[in-house]
Amino acid sequence: MKAVGIAPDDLAHAVALLRDGQLVAFPTETVYGLGADARSPGAVARIFTTKGRPANHPVIVHLADAEAVGDWAVPHPAVARLAAAYWPGPLTLILPKRPDVPAVVTGGRSTVGVRVPAHPVAHALLRAFGGGIAAPSANRFGRVSPTTAQHVRDELGDGVFVLDGGSATVGLESTIVDLSGPQPALLRPGGVPQAELEHLLGPLGHSTTAAPGTLPAHYAPSAGVHLSSTPDVDAARFTERGDQVVILRAGPPDEHARRLYSELRAADAAGATVVVAERPWPGGLGDAILDRLQRASVGSPAGDGSA
Ligand code: TXA
Ligand code: MG
Repeated sequence: MKAVGIAPDDLAHAVALLRDGQLVAFPTETVYGLGADARSPGAVARIFTTKGRPANHPVIVHLADAEAVGDWAVPHPAVARLAAAYWPGPLTLILPKRPDVPAVVTGGRSTVGVRVPAHPVAHALLRAFGGGIAAPSANRFGRVSPTTAQHVRDELGDGVFVLDGGSATVGLESTIVDLSGPQPALLRPGGVPQAELEHLLGPLGHSTTAAPGTLPAHYAPSAGVHLSSTPDVDAARFTERGDQVVILRAGPPDEHARRLYSELRAADAAGATVVVAERPWPGGLGDAILDRLQRASVGSPAGDGSA
């Protein structure tokens, strides 16, 4: 088998681990995932202990193609259209689950999240494994998601086997659309811009589904995060107060998204006490970047702007 970018031995090892109920970290185009056989409750439970994640948080089931959705979820008329437009790609759909989906995957809910990732290594892994892979982002709970294999090792140590597929090309998690209610609703902004989805689906509602992973405080580095339209002015104020300040510059949204999580990690590694993050440019992935920076700044001593 020819898998793009990884040694066949590594792929075979990853598949053997999954079949044995063990975890494998793997690249997707959004962020790295921490994967387990989605049909094995014991394997999925390992994800939660490894991440330090509360058990009521559901995990996304990754699939090789849209045809596999029927193995996990009840059919929905919008899936074919969305799949044709965005899969493989950074879109997760929440659908009513089939009764045989393990409760540990869905956090005991009546719905399941499914996504067909675009990364060639993820695709090769899913094909070779031949089933659904349950995977949250491969970071410790509440922390910044990993966009390189090294980030995963930094987060989880050497105990987890990591397939290295290079740097994530999107750099932010998938957009989550809830199709389980009366009207499609946006649960999490992400790699597919809301405006594009609304073009296809009409206006997205607000989900009534509680989404534990969209907690207000999330995606946080150790440094305080301060979102700013005047980064130089604010950075000077923090510096004067005695903070170690790193400024993160905005830019064209696609490029900004790709480097955001690496830069947050680098700021921590450099010993920053405050990250002054320039407000993202509007449009495209700008909303998703803003969402992550706002969550990163919640509860942060620097978040309220008082220097
Ligand atoms: O881009 C992504 O989506 C990455 C890559 C690895 O695919 N995965 C990811 O997973 O970000 P995670 O677990 O870190 O975030 C998934 C979010 C969580 O907030 C979870 O609560 C929500 O999706 N979620 C999953 N299944 C759900 C369901 N059935 N109902 C409501 N929310 C769900
Ligand atoms: Mg996550």
